[in-house]
Amino acid sequence: MVGVLLQEPAGVIGFRTDRDGLAFEELCDEIEHADILADKASKQDAIKQDYAASKFDAEKDKTQFRQYETASDRVKTFYLEQHTKQTVSYNLKARNDFHSKTRAEMSIWEAMERLNTLIDESDPDTDLSQIEHLLQSAEAMRRDGCPRWMQLTGLIHDLGKLLFFFDAQGQWDVVGDTFAVGCAFDDKIIYGKKSFSGNPDINDPIYSTDNGIYTPGCGLEKIMISWGHDEYLYHVVKDQSTLPDEALAMIRYHSFYPWHQQGAYRQFMTTHDEKMLKAVKWFNPYDLYSKSDEKPCVEKLKPYYMDLINEFFPQRVIKW
Ligand SMILES: [Fe+2]
Ligand SMILES: [Fe+2]
Repeated sequence: MVGVLLQEPAGVIGFRTDRDGLAFEELCDEIEHADILADKASKQDAIKQDYAASKFDAEKDKTQFRQYETASDRVKTFYLEQHTKQTVSYNLKARNDFHSKTRAEMSIWEAMERLNTLIDESDPDTDLSQIEHLLQSAEAMRRDGCPRWMQLTGLIHDLGKLLFFFDAQGQWDVVGDTFAVGCAFDDKIIYGKKSFSGNPDINDPIYSTDNGIYTPGCGLEKIMISWGHDEYLYHVVKDQSTLPDEALAMIRYHSFYPWHQQGAYRQFMTTHDEKMLKAVKWFNPYDLYSKSDEKPCVEKLKPYYMDLINEFFPQRVIKW
């Protein structure tokens, strides 16, 4: 472990203080911009068949195709590093690390405040703080009459970004679109297969095959998805909350764009995963398109969301 750590109780590793929150925030915004461009180009209307259409999902601009070439150099450089370093061996180690230590012990609300402080204090000009993005996603769901568990999912879905201030190796194992490791890198992943030319797994006789270490129909639960804030928060929440499977899917797969937007990895899905896919598609517009709404008042909304948190996190203090 490198970097300076804040004082935490014994056995808890705590936060690094040497991470550049401003650069992290700017990268997050640019990644999101690329995701919005891709979303506008995609034909995702299946959601409306099974769930009430959200008002954010109205008109898609079909003229914009995967305009990643317009993405900034920062985004390109970021994805090249991520696609090179997200190997099977790294992902096995990340999961082992996750289970072998506690990074912090705090409530959900404290985690929201910490994320806000760590990222946004370094960026006084930020359009929208992390806590405001979380509240806006949740508030949009609340206005549309989404269930309480989903409102809470909107509220917490990005808390895994705390990983950047714990023991992540960099930005590449925290944010960005996710993908499966242990099988061939799909051309539907942002920047396509060529972006993985530096990843040693492309030369592995098993990992480089279409199904890799998996079998068709094995279920996405068995698939190792590139480690980042989605997968990390999913691991934190699945054993410490009473959130339903749909909520866990929204958390785990919200950056899994090759799957929920581009149609990759269908061969591994079960009928359960089909239901989860609909849930994630229901969630996604609230993540991408709630930011243009008016800024929420954190203190005014806090009591409502504290009730929600207490409903689904009965033990209050969470191990991160
Ligand atoms: Fe996210
Ligand atoms: Fe988000």
